[in-house]
Amino acid sequence: MFDFDRVIERRGTHATKWDNIAKLSGITAPDAIAMWVADMDFAAPPGVTEALSAEVKRATHGYYADTGSWAEALTAWLAHRHNLKVDPAWVSPTPGIVSGLGLILQAISEPGDEVVVFPPVYHAFRRIIPANDRRILDSHLVQSNGRYVMDLEALGKKLTRRTKVVFLCSPHNPGGTVWSPQELRELATFCVEHDLILVSDEIHCDLVFPGAKHTPTLTAAPEIADRLITCVAATKTFNLAGAHVGACFTSNKEIKRKLDARIGAAGLASYNLFGMVATEAAWRTGEAWLDALLPYLDANRKMLDTRIEKSAPGARSMKLDATYLAWVDFSGTGLAAKDVADRVADRAHIFASPGPQFGPGGDNWLRFNFATPRPILEDALGRLDKAFADLRK
Ligand SMILES: Cc1ncc(COP(=O)(O)O)c(C=O)c1O
Repeated sequence: MFDFDRVIERRGTHATKWDNIAKLSGITAPDAIAMWVADMDFAAPPGVTEALSAEVKRATHGYYADTGSWAEALTAWLAHRHNLKVDPAWVSPTPGIVSGLGLILQAISEPGDEVVVFPPVYHAFRRIIPANDRRILDSHLVQSNGRYVMDLEALGKKLTRRTKVVFLCSPHNPGGTVWSPQELRELATFCVEHDLILVSDEIHCDLVFPGAKHTPTLTAAPEIADRLITCVAATKTFNLAGAHVGACFTSNKEIKRKLDARIGAAGLASYNLFGMVATEAAWRTGEAWLDALLPYLDANRKMLDTRIEKSAPGARSMKLDATYLAWVDFSGTGLAAKDVADRVADRAHIFASPGPQFGPGGDNWLRFNFATPRPILEDALGRLDKAFADLRK
């Protein structure tokens, strides 16, 4: 029904993933394969294409009127898919999650305040905090039984009077960790004890593999609703990142008022018509597509894990519960980090995300985006096999 094997040429289409390879990685080979930024090489759900096509055919693309149907589509999706009851009145659309995070910081903290992040973590967290004149407070994740865990005891010792906010990535990127309800409750209790506002970025919540279950932070710890802001989007789930639409929601009226004031001050209270149409259509019509996509991604994940560990003896891929971003530790190969990176870039012509980009704990790791048709993945895995062939002699 959905042809995820179909290769769509994205070069020359303003696809940052493919058209910015040379600029961002220095790999100039024309056959370079993009396995970095988190978007997928698959066509969006047909219902999204239909809704956008209808919009294009009408050819009147004036300002968007928010009738409330967008937030209704989002909240219906969250209720249906995650059993999470969200009042549409809690929702503030933003032009993507990263911009939402910046606006949240402006709304609820002061310049110089500290924001806790759990590295290795999504690199834009590390960019948006200093860009808003706030400071990063790193709480290093620890590996336990092949997954990441938080060390709240160590974090407790690092807090200062200026620590005001926590950015949680749930599920976690990179590492694909789905936090357990117990872990989320412990973090929530920690936030109450230290008077911190918790921002839960749940953009990857729909991309969870069989055997794992995402628990919204609001579900795990409803008692902290007043100090919780959740960020969600259709863009990661349905491959609409270029639509640049996200949502922040909180039941705390005062926080919502402050956030909306920042959104208004930045002139962002009028929304992108195409982004709103695409994301609403995705929530309303995209479920069958997503249900078909997840097993495809799961098979890609297994293929990448098995093959990379065989190709580069000593390499180990973290067992993902969620996301389509394989997080691979090359330290066991005995190769220096630069050697690994050079082999992947110069021999295999693959642009993977460099581990150090994700902060402390990322050295000698690479993140590979495997949300690509199998012919491209096969090609990439074959090239990696050759790039590390001498290790197997
Ligand atoms: C955890 C996380 N948050 C946010 C984003 C990006 O959100 P947006 O494109 O809506 O700014 C990403 C993209 O990879 C992500 O991994």
